[in-house]
Amino acid sequence: MSVGKPLPHDAARLHVTGQARYVDDIPTSANCLHLAFGLSDTARGVITRADLSKVRKSPGVVDVLTAIDLPHANDVSPSIHDEPLLANGEVFYHGQPIFLVVATSHLAARKAARQAQITIDPRPAILTIDDAMEAGSRFEGGPVVWSRGEASAAIDGAPHTLTGAFEMGGQEHFYLEGQAALAVPQEAGDMLVHSSTQHPTEIQHKVAEALGVPMHGVRVETRRMGGGFGGKESQGNALAVACAVAAQRTGRPCKMRYDRDDDMVITGKRHDFRITYRAGVDDQGRILGLEVTQIARCGWSQDLSLPVADRAMLHADNAYHLPAVRIESHRLKTHTASATAFRGFGGPQGVLGIERILDHISATRRLDPVDVRRVNFYRDGQTTHYGQTIEGFHVPAMTDTLLAQAEYDKRRAAIDAFNANNPIVKKGLAYVPVKFGISFTLTHLNQAGALVHVYADGSIRMNHGGTEMGQGLFQKVAQVAARCFGVPLEAVKITATDTAKVPNTSATAASSGSDLNGMAVQAACLTIRNRMAEHFASQWDTTADKITFDNGALSGPGGQSLPFGKAAAAAYEARVSLSATGFYKTPGINWDRTKGQGRPFLYFAHGVAVTEVAIDTLSGENRILRTDILHDAGSSLNPALDIGQIEGGYVQGAGWLTTEELVWDGKGQLRTHAPSTYKIPACSDRPRVFNVKLWDQPNHEDTIFKSKAVGEPPLMLGISAWLALADAVSACGDGYHDMNAPATAEEVLNAIERVRTG
Ligand code: MTE
Ligand code: MOS
Repeated sequence: MSVGKPLPHDAARLHVTGQARYVDDIPTSANCLHLAFGLSDTARGVITRADLSKVRKSPGVVDVLTAIDLPHANDVSPSIHDEPLLANGEVFYHGQPIFLVVATSHLAARKAARQAQITIDPRPAILTIDDAMEAGSRFEGGPVVWSRGEASAAIDGAPHTLTGAFEMGGQEHFYLEGQAALAVPQEAGDMLVHSSTQHPTEIQHKVAEALGVPMHGVRVETRRMGGGFGGKESQGNALAVACAVAAQRTGRPCKMRYDRDDDMVITGKRHDFRITYRAGVDDQGRILGLEVTQIARCGWSQDLSLPVADRAMLHADNAYHLPAVRIESHRLKTHTASATAFRGFGGPQGVLGIERILDHISATRRLDPVDVRRVNFYRDGQTTHYGQTIEGFHVPAMTDTLLAQAEYDKRRAAIDAFNANNPIVKKGLAYVPVKFGISFTLTHLNQAGALVHVYADGSIRMNHGGTEMGQGLFQKVAQVAARCFGVPLEAVKITATDTAKVPNTSATAASSGSDLNGMAVQAACLTIRNRMAEHFASQWDTTADKITFDNGALSGPGGQSLPFGKAAAAAYEARVSLSATGFYKTPGINWDRTKGQGRPFLYFAHGVAVTEVAIDTLSGENRILRTDILHDAGSSLNPALDIGQIEGGYVQGAGWLTTEELVWDGKGQLRTHAPSTYKIPACSDRPRVFNVKLWDQPNHEDTIFKSKAVGEPPLMLGISAWLALADAVSACGDGYHDMNAPATAEEVLNAIERVRTG
């Protein structure tokens, strides 16, 4: 039984021995060329002169391209064709690619790119949220508003009201493997592209447009990424298109990878948000009415910002029933890198918003923060602000279990006593629940395909539209295939994602990789299994439903049995087709994004976390001492991989809200463009004590073996680290901390000051 086993990642051994092959490791012929972009040094302006003669004369340079040299489409946007590969006379952010160098080595291309003499006539740049709000610079015209009931009247009529505003920073993906692509020209104008992408079909589509060929002329292969985290849903387009165009022009393989600094400057990050709110509450802190304004800085092009901002609105409730609510969302267009998908896809910003509001309520009303959350919890049968009925809501029961396991009450008392006796070091403790909607909100993306072959020796080759980025999707789906045929996992070959095998795929995103591809692979396996069963049923004088596939053998009701390999050979000889496609589309979902109404999600994944921290009130330095998590992965397909996702997601979320700070200067230049200035969590930053458990209840919806998606939801459990820091800060005085995110050492010190001065 392969499903449900805590098996290691299928490539774990390859990862740690350095044998795992990434795009930059693929052997190429000796004539392979290397690419680099020349970038804008101005946030916004008109290019008045571009002298590239020195670039062309640089050692090793074979070709230099600007926008006018592109043969067909000059666009790498995943949404509204507003993102030229190379600037078209104007630049819209500091770091925008203006020209492309093709050279005999990576270094030669980079050195040459620096030789350009480009004059840009600067124009006023809209950089900050304030700039953009003042200028009314938005995507979609005005703000998007969704509401339920009369929020304003409910707030005015409530016993207590409070208002507030705070900001949360963006986040660099910092995938270990940077963006990379390799294009290899084929005969008759066809192109093979290897891309580190979560979305091979999108790469195929953009490359076909750029080459002026039908999609059938482009094949994209992705074996794995060294992390994507949403940053490779659309941000790989530019490299793949650049390589394909250069490969077509030169007839030689072309490869491009961004150095870390370029990667951080050129590509989009998580959206930073400002959230303002007005809430009306009763004596227990129950929210009676709420108005929230979410302001997202989207950057210069639309990219995926609209669905990201939608998902922030969809998660403005987190785990809480909001009887009367109005949410206003501003999608600001600014002259900065285009913000993009990042684990949670806007959900984390929405969840942090409501958690901050509940924190504010409990602090100012002097109520217990867990009690305030409990009185606001959803109950099954209630509906969300967008009209989806809540079913199988595990958060209340999970909270009881976790708080008992984590000895929350006892530790709360111990921390209060510690803080009373320690003037310098203060500790903090906080709890957070998470409810996260699973499905793409763009309904048509909720589909997947698979292609499965059984060879005559009984070995199985499995392919599906999902991509592997370290999350363990391939292993989980292979477990599904092994289970369907009742064979050991070793019988199933995991293969690279390939647009020539499974077409028209969705990005591996929205945490739905195993939900969608697991079902598609199961469908393909069952088709083959049924054909085999029919064949042996006729041989063994029984019916197909009586044939079992288990323990590596086919068995009939009369004691007949054949090893799977022998059965495959016999089926082949009897001319039974042993290859099948599979298809799945998520049932029951519907969504009207203009009205903000419908059932966008098949179900919700849940999690709860308690984090304990300590701060040094002199330096603002802090540390996570202990974290306890209980997470709902349904009936886990693979508990080891799921726990890995939860640990990694939590640490990434805590990093977003603590040390990871993006700083742009007044000219729109990103100042934190390397690990020297941008601090992601290291191993030593993980919680000293880290207890992660699975809730282990089957999904009430009919998902693959009753599992639940797990990729993104745990990131939001990291919010408990931010809340715990706020709690520790609050122990320094009587005022409200009013803390922004990330809670860097500076922000912690500032918040301590606010608390002390009331
Ligand atoms: N885990 C690892 N190790 N690396 C990643 O890049 N991406 C996350 C999450 N977990 C990521 C990861 C994101 S943003 C998503 S949407 C999901 O994995 C995608 O994979 P899944 O749908 O198979 O869960
Ligand atoms: Mo994940 S942000 O949906 O790639």
